[in-house]
Amino acid sequence: MVGENVELLNRVRAERRRLSAEGPSFFRSDGDFQRVSIPASDADVLRDLILAERAATVIEVGLAYGSSALAIVEALVLVHGTNAHHLVIDAYQEHFHSAGWDAIVAAGVTEICSFLPRRSHLALPLLVEEGMSADAAFVDGSHVFHEVFVDLVFLRELVRPGGLVVLDDCGWPSVATAVRYFEVNAGWQRDPTESDTRLRAYRLPDPRVEPSFENFQHFGLHAQG
Ligand SMILES: C[S@@+](CC[C@H](N)C(=O)[O-])C[C@H]1O[C@@H](n2cnc3c(N)ncnc32)[C@H](O)[C@@H]1O
Repeated sequence: MVGENVELLNRVRAERRRLSAEGPSFFRSDGDFQRVSIPASDADVLRDLILAERAATVIEVGLAYGSSALAIVEALVLVHGTNAHHLVIDAYQEHFHSAGWDAIVAAGVTEICSFLPRRSHLALPLLVEEGMSADAAFVDGSHVFHEVFVDLVFLRELVRPGGLVVLDDCGWPSVATAVRYFEVNAGWQRDPTESDTRLRAYRLPDPRVEPSFENFQHFGLHAQG
């Protein structure tokens, strides 16, 4: 790793530590940062998942205060320096007074990050039309079933065959049911994560599976057997 990338990596790590210890530049209410952000240990799991992929391009839904974004960026910089791209989508960053983007600026990684201030189920199809391809995605935006489901519909096209989709909050039936469709009908396989974490990672099939309507399998949580 060349000197300037080591410096950048140290800056990202320092900003991650600072954010975790001192909190964001703005918070909506007491305890909101801790409630909304993934915990630091899960952020480390996310970093290690992206690192193991050697992913160069990642799409994230849900920036909030930037904890997960910085974890992803740490993995990107570690492997690729500035030859990487992290695209973050968040429709409501103004509710956070841009605290998530401030963390990205403070970490010095605006060169490799871009931000789409749109609802993800409207932004992701545009990326498909632009022909974007990513190695991995992290989904932690809307937790409403049909919005998560639509996010995953488009991420199935955006993440390359054999790539990884990681989700937070599969403890919520709405999120767990949305991803269950892709497990049961589209060949996504649960990737065993090494440590105890609330994140779930799914490996996409390679080649991509195109499900037929004749072979549709019921996918509600009660249908898990
Ligand atoms: C749980 S927070 C994300 C926390 C973040 N991953 C972290 O660990 O720091 C959810 C975020 O998703 C955003 N969001 C909610 N619904 C959305 C939608 N339909 N499209 C895009 N972003 C959305 C919210 O503005 C919020 O920032």
